[in-house]
Amino acid sequence: MQIFINEKNKKGHINPEIYGHFSEHLGRCIYEGLYVGENSDIPNVNGMRKDVVDALKEMKIPVLRWPGGCFADEYHWKDGIGPKEKRKRMINTHWGGVLEDNSFGTDEYFELCGQLGCKTYVNGNVGSGTVQEMSEWVEYVTFDGVSPMADLRKANGHEKPWKIDYFGVGNESWGCGGNMTPEYYANLYRRYQTYIRQYRNDAPIKKVCCGPNASDYFWTKDVMKTCYSQPHPDSAHGYMDGLSLHYYVVPENWSKKGSATDFDEKSWYKTISKALYMDELIVRHSAIMDQYDPEKKIGLMVDEWGCWYDVEPGTNPGFLYQQNTMRDALTAGVTLNIFNKHCDRVKMACIAQLVNVLQAVILTEGSKMILTPTYHVFHMYRHHQGAELVESFIEGNKTIGVEAEYQVSEVMESVSVGADGVVNVTVNNLSASGAAPIEISFTELEPSSIEASILTGGIREHNTFEEPENIKEKTFTEFKTEGRKISFTAPACSIISLRIK
Ligand code: AHR
Repeated sequence: MQIFINEKNKKGHINPEIYGHFSEHLGRCIYEGLYVGENSDIPNVNGMRKDVVDALKEMKIPVLRWPGGCFADEYHWKDGIGPKEKRKRMINTHWGGVLEDNSFGTDEYFELCGQLGCKTYVNGNVGSGTVQEMSEWVEYVTFDGVSPMADLRKANGHEKPWKIDYFGVGNESWGCGGNMTPEYYANLYRRYQTYIRQYRNDAPIKKVCCGPNASDYFWTKDVMKTCYSQPHPDSAHGYMDGLSLHYYVVPENWSKKGSATDFDEKSWYKTISKALYMDELIVRHSAIMDQYDPEKKIGLMVDEWGCWYDVEPGTNPGFLYQQNTMRDALTAGVTLNIFNKHCDRVKMACIAQLVNVLQAVILTEGSKMILTPTYHVFHMYRHHQGAELVESFIEGNKTIGVEAEYQVSEVMESVSVGADGVVNVTVNNLSASGAAPIEISFTELEPSSIEASILTGGIREHNTFEEPENIKEKTFTEFKTEGRKISFTAPACSIISLRIK
């Protein structure tokens, strides 16, 4: 099969935030996964795990969403500031019924993002919080003057304000965030967002409106109709800068989702085909957004996506802890390729979740840490961040699968060119068992140097604390070049990244 690349035809900017992540007060994501406290034996900087922070920096994490998720609409930020021994203790009723001691709060989140060098995405509480509470949170974090909230921040040891890059007004307001109708939420959104004041001219806050659950096109239509507005003095883009979209890949169904590691080829193709459905979701939601915003001023923010399986046997069902195999690597690979191809509308995406929850890039056990296959995909794709998408298409692709309903195209790709002129190609072979011979053809470029890496293994293979490097990115050299062409064979179940000059 042939991948044609028209490297001269630039199609749009790939916002780095498309490679974003999500961290919720859920299970062992924040506590143990990211934050262990200053007094822990696990090496940490101001309480943040050093091994995890280093790995995330190496992966080039661009943005981190926090504190939820469903937790966001039960979170009262003032419970999580000030001396730790005085912070309110509560039960995390949504996730596992465990004690939340609020030792990780606003100050710790901004410390973490500072260490990671990533943008910030705070999700506010509309479900059970007030307009005043949300407004004061923004004042606490971003106001650089004399005011009750800025003074409180200073009293807590932070003289200078931080930056909020993105602010989400409610989470899943159609579900755990208040079970609202689109009409009701849309009006609340207009009201709440009014009080997200822009205190920093140098760092305007982008406001994210709660968007649909998967294929709920009615939600998108109703909310866009009420909330979209032309640019307004308070915001670069009127009332909203983005509309969120949540979509999880569940191999079977919500009551019996399927095992993360014990599955067959039938389930492999079903899962991959459900991941590819992201493309249709983006096309159809974008078509509705285009009716209001044809110039694509606002972004579709896919701020929760990933695979959701049954929890690992013996773990707390409320902690959503799951293993991560080559199947997750390929679902991440195709999803990121889809986002790249829709970079005109998709401006941010956050995989759920960062550590120890759902499709995590990192798993921890005490002081041990492993990188999952999904981590390696984000690492291999990092060069797309901030690059320009270029035209590419495939000829001679095969349709493969076990069940008629879940057939997929064998190979998927996306291509970008960086500011340094290097062309980035990421290719997925979705076959569970067959290698794919591939020839890449450029319009003009005659490659003079290529650096490539590969992630491959059996469909169920994964890393464990005993075998942490079973699956890892390896240098790939088995390609030939001739004039404008590069040829190689992509093994079954593989991801290949090429950097071409
Ligand atoms: O990521 C887990 C949960 O999934 C989030 O809290 C919620 O927003 C979604 O339903």
